[in-house]
Amino acid sequence: MKKTLAPGERYRLEPLVARHDRRLFCSGSDELDRYLRNQASQDGRRRVASVFVAVEKTSGELHGFYTLSMATVLLDRLPEPLAHRLPLYPSIPAVRLGRLAVHKDAQGHGIGTFLLMDAMARSLGSEVAWVVFLVDAKDDPARMFYQSFGFQSFQDESRSLFLPRKTIEPLFR
Ligand SMILES: CC(C)(COP(=O)(O)OP(=O)(O)OC[C@H]1O[C@@H](n2cnc3c(N)ncnc32)[C@H](O)[C@@H]1OP(=O)(O)O)[C@@H](O)C(=O)NCCC(=O)NCCS
Repeated sequence: MKKTLAPGERYRLEPLVARHDRRLFCSGSDELDRYLRNQASQDGRRRVASVFVAVEKTSGELHGFYTLSMATVLLDRLPEPLAHRLPLYPSIPAVRLGRLAVHKDAQGHGIGTFLLMDAMARSLGSEVAWVVFLVDAKDDPARMFYQSFGFQSFQDESRSLFLPRKTIEPLFR
């Protein structure tokens, strides 16, 4: 029987560079696929977003990617229990996982989870301060994917979700 490798053994996660072949990447979302092919490198060069890819070690194929950027969130969008522990600044520092996608043939094997955990670990490792981790879900299934990790929707925008840093930190201790 063929042994199934855990994502951490099967994939290398690295910043997107020119040699990564993006032409065959297909997540089922044209918008995300187009972004990876046409825009991601430029965003990386201009420091608009950091783009990380999951490269299968044996084939060199690209099976997933995500983007990370700094962001802010208005204090009054946060729920009271979180907001009341924060200073009364109008906006609060955050990181944003703007995009996340896994190649369709590789979905359902924990790679999305692996990428999300890597994004959180990198963000925690940064010396730049942030209080909340933001994600943008492109549709309701994506929203449910994030909710399965405990992300909460903002009241004014259900496809914009967050998880407080305080909730994430213990996962990486
Ligand atoms: C959403 C996506 C990134 C998930 O990646 P994946 O590698 O298939 O996810 P995983 O295998 O790590 O699944 C993790 C858990 O989320 C669940 N899940 C995955 N996709 C889901 C969805 N669309 N809705 C609800 N739950 C979902 C899985 O069932 C799994 O739960 P389990 O561990 O209890 O079985 C992937 O399906 C994808 O690229 N979709 C197209 C693009 C997209 O929607 N991106 C989302 C950000 S905009």
